[in-house]
Amino acid sequence: MNVLTLLGSARKKGNTATALGWVEDALTGMGHDVTRVFLHGKNLNGCMGCAQCKQVISAPGCIQKDDIPEILDQMTAADLIVFASPLYFWGPSAQIKAVIDRTYSLYTRYHETDHSSLLEGRREAFLMTGAGGWDNNAEGAFAAFKRMQKPHKTQYAGELFLANCTVPAEMTDHTKEKTLSFARQIGV
Ligand SMILES: Cc1cc2nc3c(=O)[nH]c(=O)nc-3n(C[C@H](O)[C@H](O)[C@H](O)COP(=O)(O)O)c2cc1C
Repeated sequence: MNVLTLLGSARKKGNTATALGWVEDALTGMGHDVTRVFLHGKNLNGCMGCAQCKQVISAPGCIQKDDIPEILDQMTAADLIVFASPLYFWGPSAQIKAVIDRTYSLYTRYHETDHSSLLEGRREAFLMTGAGGWDNNAEGAFAAFKRMQKPHKTQYAGELFLANCTVPAEMTDHTKEKTLSFARQIGV
């Protein structure tokens, strides 16, 4: 399976990068081809809402000339996309959100019977780390991510929220085991 991981934290050795590294190693061990994109190293603009992309069905069609069109192409070429983000103000990081918003250019005629998506049939998974717990904190981010599967015409492969994160050195064996179990779930 061709797996694309999108690291949405700026911290290359932070909590999210550490957990994502465990997932990537496990997926590689299962025989999958894994490519990571470190989003913070990219030039990422927000969606302009111009809807020019909606004129194009067979390609992303976004008119912006930053690094996101290449990432969108990588997403359409993947079987499984793993979004990995720290929880920032009850949502994903700006880097992940920029990519998500620009996936607006990957589907057309949402809510119509001829709704089509260049991501159709792909699987999407969501990994988040946060300093707090789940309740009154992480639910909204996961609910929004799950909802995104409808316009994308994708399958929800799985989700993992690693709560109470401080620093990578303090991530426990239990946390690692939970993360590996998530990797096994999404890697089938
Ligand atoms: C701008 C900012 C906003 C944050 N907002 C939240 C939050 O809403 N909920 C939470 O649990 N943690 C929050 N945190 C803590 C981070 O999500 C947490 O430390 C995370 O594991 C950091 O991941 P990283 O090491 O990959 O950067 C926030 C941290 C920052 C810097």
